[in-house]
Amino acid sequence: MTGRARPPHDRCRQCRSRAVTGSGSGSVASAGGCPDHGGAPCLAVEGRTLIERELEGRYTLLEVIATGGMGTIFRARQHATGRDVAIKLLPTVKVRREHALQQFAGEASALARLSDPHIVTLLDAACAQAELPYFVMELLRGTTLRELVAREGPLAPARALAITAQVLDALGHAHAAGVVHRDVKPENVMLLDGYRHRDFVKVLDFGVAWLRSSAPEAQPRDELLVGTPSCIAPEQITGAAIDPRADLYALGSVLFYLLAGQYPFEDASAHALMRDKLGRAAPRLSTLAGSEAWPVELDELVASLLERAPDDRPADADAARALLDGAIAALDRGCSAHATTPTPAPASALPRPGRPDRDRTTLDVGRSLPPPRAAGEAEGLEAAERARRA
Ligand SMILES: Nc1ncnc2c1ncn2[C@@H]1O[C@H](COP(=O)(O)OP(=O)(O)O)[C@@H](O)[C@H]1O
Ligand SMILES: [Mg+2]
Repeated sequence: MTGRARPPHDRCRQCRSRAVTGSGSGSVASAGGCPDHGGAPCLAVEGRTLIERELEGRYTLLEVIATGGMGTIFRARQHATGRDVAIKLLPTVKVRREHALQQFAGEASALARLSDPHIVTLLDAACAQAELPYFVMELLRGTTLRELVAREGPLAPARALAITAQVLDALGHAHAAGVVHRDVKPENVMLLDGYRHRDFVKVLDFGVAWLRSSAPEAQPRDELLVGTPSCIAPEQITGAAIDPRADLYALGSVLFYLLAGQYPFEDASAHALMRDKLGRAAPRLSTLAGSEAWPVELDELVASLLERAPDDRPADADAARALLDGAIAALDRGCSAHATTPTPAPASALPRPGRPDRDRTTLDVGRSLPPPRAAGEAEGLEAAERARRA
């Protein structure tokens, strides 16, 4: 197995910004922090230095919207039209890494294949640009699902399902176009502000998407884990081949999160979380306080999306949509009158809205993940859990 471990300390310990200089003597950790905290240059600072920079005489970068692992997102002005757009730019440290450059160009290629009202629209791309590769998207103004739940707590089932249905439609479109997102999570789903429909969804960030026509070696089987531990499917952890059903699992994690204010699997350590995810079934929604009035179809929908084995999940987005429609119909039939949000967890207990992509992981799975629990052990854990709940 040929894994590539991430440099051990490439983030500022105080603000969590990533270092531009990567590992080694320039590592932010070696100096105790990023430039704002006395250390080496980091992506956040690099982003700020690019404000007012022109790209090929066609765009001017105006403001940093977000700094993530895969790039910095700017609000920018398009000279030809005078309108504002969003530009994702590959950080300079990554331009020199061929793998990062390929992945960046892959995001633009994935978006170029897609045309769906619930997927962010690609407007332009210059990924072969030697100095600052970038691509241009429609500028979205809104709130990510992560921010929404942090602000408002768990959502009522009807609202959560209406949002999930739009994400599912977006995924169905992507899958039909041969694109598996692989990082569906609350930070990568935005609800638009001021749109004529409430809660209009846009799915973002195809930064680690897998394109069906990619060469087989482009899918990092057995090698690197991509995605975010709390949301990804078990087969992404083990490095088995993935298909669109991996996104359905992640969507189950997102729906659970919308309804419960927390993920089905939570742990302080990503390794323990992933071991749990491999070793035991996801908790049932019906075990949540306040879920008694919810229709059984909702519980079954979430359970079926969160099945550990892909073959036990809905076969595709259409099959998942049929289950989801069944849950919506059941709510409409009578349970909706009783549908309440579960007692919201205290704000301190809710996951904090992290920096976008903060939790995304690229790990050497083979070397770093503890072995999954044996089946018997997992059943024992479940029995213990049931006993505790009883
Ligand atoms: N087209 C866009 N318009 C407005 N904001 C965006 C756009 N694309 C991304 N963002 C914001 O930037 C954040 C990071 O973008 P994302 O594509 O998820 O990058 P990363 O790969 O770094 O996670 C998103 O969570 C969102 O808040
Ligand atoms: Mg993201």
